[in-house]
Amino acid sequence: MDSINYLNTIENLCVENGKLQAIIESSTNGIIEVNAAGDILKSNPAFYHMVNISPVDDIVYNLGKLLHSEDLKGELSKLLTGGEDILIKGFHLPILRGKKEEMHYLEIKFSRVPVMNQDFIIGIVKDKSDIMRALSNREEYISTLLNMIHELRIDNRDSIYHIASLVELRDHTTGKHLERVESYTKKLAQEYMLTFGDRDPRLNETFVDDMAVSSILHDIGKVAISDMILQKPDKLSISEFESIKEHTIIAGEALKEYKGRKDFLAMGREIATYHHEKWDGTGYPTGKAGTDIPLSARIVALCDTYDALVSERPYKVAYSHEKAIEIIREESGISFDPEIVELFLKINGDFLKIREYYDDDS
Ligand SMILES: [Fe+2]
Ligand SMILES: [Fe+2]
Repeated sequence: MDSINYLNTIENLCVENGKLQAIIESSTNGIIEVNAAGDILKSNPAFYHMVNISPVDDIVYNLGKLLHSEDLKGELSKLLTGGEDILIKGFHLPILRGKKEEMHYLEIKFSRVPVMNQDFIIGIVKDKSDIMRALSNREEYISTLLNMIHELRIDNRDSIYHIASLVELRDHTTGKHLERVESYTKKLAQEYMLTFGDRDPRLNETFVDDMAVSSILHDIGKVAISDMILQKPDKLSISEFESIKEHTIIAGEALKEYKGRKDFLAMGREIATYHHEKWDGTGYPTGKAGTDIPLSARIVALCDTYDALVSERPYKVAYSHEKAIEIIREESGISFDPEIVELFLKINGDFLKIREYYDDDS
């Protein structure tokens, strides 16, 4: 390499290094480098802001205790020799802001990062306090509601609607939205069972009934979202929209004990968590795509969207049935499972009948 080329390469490396540095410095997540003994070697400004200490201070006592615990040291050593990433969730850290002590909930993920011939341990630190606070305030409320729903399921279906509609009423829709979504879900799930029933023995009448009943829980996580955001008539800001998105995670957390169980609330959890995922992977909260999204959530997503399209909302007029069909057809393979769109197109007359049956002011 001649000297001019050599200098150019060095200059390019310096520019790249500067850019990387700027990204790290401006990140809102804390970024730290630790060694296998749990000592923090380097960190970015967001980390210092998060734990409210200046770079010259000693590390906050219990964070230091966590980082220097024998367990973590063992994990960090394993990580350096090819072990899996380490995720520490909901780590409680009391932080003094002025005279007030706030309890913060941090999440730290340690990964091994190879650079040239050396391996480093980098930790990404996220402050999850807001969502954890929302959960602890509302968790009791949600679990009371869910227990009531669970108890009432067999005896009194109307009561389930009344409980679940507490959420929908705050969200500018009416209880009829839930009844319609349940009816659409039942029709579409039945059609799915008739068409693809031989794929899986679980696709039976009970499955269809469970899916229809649990569809009414799709937005139950909104109990933890503030009225100011839910009822805002104007367009939401980016951060307000981010808050709304949390309703899926909150429901998933509140219903986590039902995960994997053969229970209609297990399906309720799937639907409440994944009903905003999209077939192409651009939805939220996880960005799951295709058949990784649970079938129940794929079916309810279409039913919920159809009802939103043909209903008036504070931000839109009610579209005609034909216009809703057109939009859903265009979203086949983008937002929705193409097979489910095909089934919807086949039985769209039933959707119209259900819409007309519940024709009301909603
Ligand atoms: Fe939702
Ligand atoms: Fe909905």
